[in-house]
Amino acid sequence: MRRDLFSLLAACAVLGLLLVGMPGAASAGDPLAEARLFCAGADEAGGKLIYLAGYNLKVERIQFMGGPQWLQMHGGSCASCHGPGGRGGMFPLQCDLRTPAVDFAALAGAVAGKDRKSSPYTVATLRRTLEQSRDADGRTLDPCMPRWYPNDVDYRDLTAHLLHLSGR
Ligand code: HEC
Repeated sequence: MRRDLFSLLAACAVLGLLLVGMPGAASAGDPLAEARLFCAGADEAGGKLIYLAGYNLKVERIQFMGGPQWLQMHGGSCASCHGPGGRGGMFPLQCDLRTPAVDFAALAGAVAGKDRKSSPYTVATLRRTLEQSRDADGRTLDPCMPRWYPNDVDYRDLTAHLLHLSGR
């Protein structure tokens, strides 16, 4: 009886591992495919609002720290510096460098000729970049790029919008 129970538990554990492993296996090495899986069920409209205005659909401000003084005083969001379409190429006020493209395809290294300096981003390294202002290789970014603290739902919605901006 006890052995039966043990086999049952072992079978469940193996099945669980298989199920957990499957999405990873389908997207291994492809940050875009991984991001699409990650964003299943996301609210892209919410992500667009975060990207353009810095608020989620519940009208809660996405917390941030750092960045230029005007951002602290007047608010703003990704679009203020990376442009509404995510293509970058802007020199934000009080910053002395041009912003990079942040649509997900550009971040994931799937667009030729983009001026991204680091390794391709993944869903995980992008979140670290937002929270710690460090690029995909861990290098500290210019202080013009604020640190952002979206919750899990907001981060997923924002990622869905970055995917949408890349048309992938
Ligand atoms: C005040 C201007 C400003 C705002 C607002 C801003 N960024 Fe940035 N961001 C920058 C600058 C400047 C850089 C380049 C930093 C560097 O190269 O050291 C950057 C870099 C990045 C990078 C790294 C890209 C790469 O090629 O390595 C990502 C990702 C990014 N921003 C995403 C976002 C997102 C998402 C938001 C909104 C939640 C946002 N940024 C808001 C200015 C801004």
